[in-house]
Amino acid sequence: MQIYRSSLLRFTSQGLAEFDPDGLLALQLDPHGRWRVEAAGSWQSLAPRFAGVPVTHWPDRIIAPGFIDMHIHFPQTDVIGSPAEGLLPWLENYTFPHESRFADPAYAAEVATVFLDELQRHGVTTALTFATSHPASVDALMGEALQRGQRLIAGKVLQDRHSPDGVRDETEQSLIDTEALIQRWHGRGRLGYAITPRFAPSCSEAQLRGAGELAARYPDVWIQSHVAENLDEVQWARELFPAARSYLSIYDDFGLMRKRAVYAHCIHFDDADRALMRDTGTAAAVSPTSNLFLGSGFFDYEGARRIGFHHGLASDVGGGTSFSPFHTMLAAYYVGREGQTKPGLSLSPQELWWRHTGGAAEALGLGGVVGTLQSGTEADFVVLDPKATPLLARKTSQASSLDELLFALIVLGDDRVIERTVTAGSGA
Ligand code: GUN
Ligand code: ZN
Repeated sequence: MQIYRSSLLRFTSQGLAEFDPDGLLALQLDPHGRWRVEAAGSWQSLAPRFAGVPVTHWPDRIIAPGFIDMHIHFPQTDVIGSPAEGLLPWLENYTFPHESRFADPAYAAEVATVFLDELQRHGVTTALTFATSHPASVDALMGEALQRGQRLIAGKVLQDRHSPDGVRDETEQSLIDTEALIQRWHGRGRLGYAITPRFAPSCSEAQLRGAGELAARYPDVWIQSHVAENLDEVQWARELFPAARSYLSIYDDFGLMRKRAVYAHCIHFDDADRALMRDTGTAAAVSPTSNLFLGSGFFDYEGARRIGFHHGLASDVGGGTSFSPFHTMLAAYYVGREGQTKPGLSLSPQELWWRHTGGAAEALGLGGVVGTLQSGTEADFVVLDPKATPLLARKTSQASSLDELLFALIVLGDDRVIERTVTAGSGA
């Protein structure tokens, strides 16, 4: 057993924040060698129960759930900050040429290490990530994550058309490779596999059909792709699949919408698309720094709320500009201002934080597993230093409510705030 004493931020499964200025977090090792929350609450109420157990005391620090990044590209770690007119030229001029380098397993292994180090430095304890079309890129990343005990979901990209030599795969082999990778990695340690069609324009009908068949055969694997990010992309998808009701419904037509299916962006939607997300249990990975950087558009939070479908926050590195959940939350706040029809805050600080922790876990189908620090959940957490910079120290010491404290961290925070990242997994 381990006991920590510090300020403590948790969430209920409904997304309500609970904050104990003097908190206690008790962890117990489970039979799989994974730390789980035994109890969490105020020091005063819980300390007697754990009398005699040694305590790690972090005064002036905040323990909070580890962040969850719902959509990121590990092979785009070095693509961050590549300027382009928009999505399609960015893919052609920077992203595809760079991803072709991951045919080399040694290069993939080196970047996997850097990528997982960056997640950790930024307090991200669960990520759903694209690899490249090369199966060895999945092996490199999964092998490294397994050793670290990191919770990670990843998949080999499927892209058998409209893609250059070096990243384009072959339809039948791509599906054979996907199934072999599911069998090799899904459910091992804290790893999960995601069937990963890049986006409808880069996949033949046969490849999408095969992906849907695999999804039906492996109902607890994840599915990830992109949709309705950019107007040129939307038009292209509509031309390639003229029979589909909308870009989003192409995926539904191939059996690729369900629980544990996660689509990045979801910007250029109508209400029928939103209802399809809701009715299939599909989740949106909202990627505000990417959408601002590439000029893609603004996610409609009011629409998501009105119709009611799962959504959470994501960096989308390398279209996204930062691994930092603080930067992503701040960008989401700015984006929430766009098209806002109701007066008031865009998104509250508690909602922003929830959508990058427990809410993202719910959207991924990992509710009750990670993201809240409620009893029984896995003990992935961060230790935050609210005085990490001089200005942050001034702001947080003047905060008179939880909202003010969280807003100060969201607006002024970055990796300097993350003093430690603790993962529940013990590693291989
Ligand atoms: N659409 C297809 N591929 C990609 C990608 O790598 N990044 C983004 N942002 N959108 C995509
Ligand atoms: Zn993406």
